[in-house]
Amino acid sequence: MFVTFEGPEGGGKSTMVQRVAAAMLADGHEVVTTREPGAGETGQRIRELLLHGPDMPPETELLLFLADRANHVRTVIRPALEAGKIVLCDRFADSTWVYQAYVRELDRAFVEAGNRFATGGLEPDLTILLDVEPEIGMARFTSRDRIEAQPIEFHKRIREGFILRTADSSRWVIVDASQPEDAVFGRVWHAIHENPAYNLKRRPENSSGQGTPK
Ligand code: TMP
Repeated sequence: MFVTFEGPEGGGKSTMVQRVAAAMLADGHEVVTTREPGAGETGQRIRELLLHGPDMPPETELLLFLADRANHVRTVIRPALEAGKIVLCDRFADSTWVYQAYVRELDRAFVEAGNRFATGGLEPDLTILLDVEPEIGMARFTSRDRIEAQPIEFHKRIREGFILRTADSSRWVIVDASQPEDAVFGRVWHAIHENPAYNLKRRPENSSGQGTPK
């Protein structure tokens, strides 16, 4: 099972990834937690450049996010799924659609083709949108990276882009991330349990390495 967590800044994605992983482990699953950008040494170097390097044209930014994803899918995500593990990923291709295509206004068809190229066609079974108003989300930060430091209008457009994106597919579940953390986790955990990919993973015949879940 492949689950991604998306949304504006300050929605608590990394906290949810950790809490869900702990609950899945308690359920007896093997779980890999990861994030974009920044998995592995190559990913970390790309993340450093993207978030803490000098300003860059949006085209360069797009290609770096895609480069990170191409590496991440092939070196971390696919191998884990093929080994029968559950993968929980903090941001994935939808972030590129929202940040680079919707908000930075790069060519949508190119971004979509780039995402398909980078992911090799891999799509999440479930995507949780941790939805939070930018005023609340941004207030949760003390220091800001290059993208977080953008004006509030940018972050409002990000939120709008994610909401629009959810119309794309039934794999999305929207969770109000302005609620207390335990309430957010309860909603997220319910969505995972309701997802057929979670139940399928628990059947012993799937642990043979055959029929790798998407
Ligand atoms: P993080 O701070 O949630 O780890 O995400 C890194 C930043 O990079 C965040 O501001 C969102 C942005 N981002 C993009 O602009 N495009 C992408 O494809 C990804 C994965 C992240």
